[in-house]
Amino acid sequence: MNASAPEDRRVLLAAPRGYCAGVDRAVVTVEKALELYGAPVYVRKEIVHNKHVVQTLQNRGAVFVEETDEVPEGATVVFSAHGVAPIVHEEASRRRLKTIDATCPLVTKVHKEAVRFAEQDYDILLIGHDGHEEVVGTTGEAPEHIVLVDGPDSVADVQVRDPAKVAWLSQTTLSVDETTATVDRLREKFPLLLDPPSDDICYATQNRQIAVKRIAADSDLVIVVGSKNSSNSVRLVEVALEAGAGAAYLVDFASEISEDWLEGVRTVGLTSGASVPEDLVDGVLSWLAERGYGTVEVVRSAEEKLLFALPPELRKDMREGS
Ligand code: F3S
Repeated sequence: MNASAPEDRRVLLAAPRGYCAGVDRAVVTVEKALELYGAPVYVRKEIVHNKHVVQTLQNRGAVFVEETDEVPEGATVVFSAHGVAPIVHEEASRRRLKTIDATCPLVTKVHKEAVRFAEQDYDILLIGHDGHEEVVGTTGEAPEHIVLVDGPDSVADVQVRDPAKVAWLSQTTLSVDETTATVDRLREKFPLLLDPPSDDICYATQNRQIAVKRIAADSDLVIVVGSKNSSNSVRLVEVALEAGAGAAYLVDFASEISEDWLEGVRTVGLTSGASVPEDLVDGVLSWLAERGYGTVEVVRSAEEKLLFALPPELRKDMREGS
């Protein structure tokens, strides 16, 4: 039985949360491609890391594949928001695939930084999670020059050719605080370490972490809506716990919430990762309201107005109506 008095129960709803500009663009890209070319439209990897989004697009005719060799010659393939290595473009062109690149422009920016540092013969210390698609894509821009650094504890093992020629870059969806700790350790080891020209951790990741910090200390429980393979969503759980939440869990859907989590809970904090559509958050709000948590206070820490234009190759076809 929940020991908290019903009149005390409330939800603190973090803002901003949910869709970022890069996810919105990638999802709309697949939707428009389906309208324009008809099903099937092939998508290499999950277009964004969210189960519900992938299922919805699948139902509309998108076919998700792991690699371009699963796409029939001459068919249309969309590259996901996380970006691809140049070799993937080359393979697609060899197989005469029509490609639409939905890589988030903020990931493309990191690819360009990697190319520029590599051209100047720097060793690039790429802070990120081993095996994450974005890290694989960025590394593919300059495989000879990139050394992966997976958090502060792996700094001790980092080897470079010349400690006077090292720069760092990062995955866009990391914990801001942990990345700062990693960079501090790298700088102790390599005092001449060069910074990226601008933040690689994107505005959406940063804003969602700031927003969850604002609600965490006042929340007995924080629920983060997001998929387990979504880096930025997983980070929100970690940030909430570090910022003082009594407990924090990641769920894809309201049906995954356990009644037990509410035991003695007065305040539930709620947020969602950058690849999560708002109707999933609405589902959690309804679930909570049914259990006496109908009072919702929005805690906003930033306004977001950024929008990205659709990929130029798609816009061209939309203009020509092909
Ligand atoms: Fe882009 Fe950041 Fe979203 S890199 S896809 S704006 S989480």
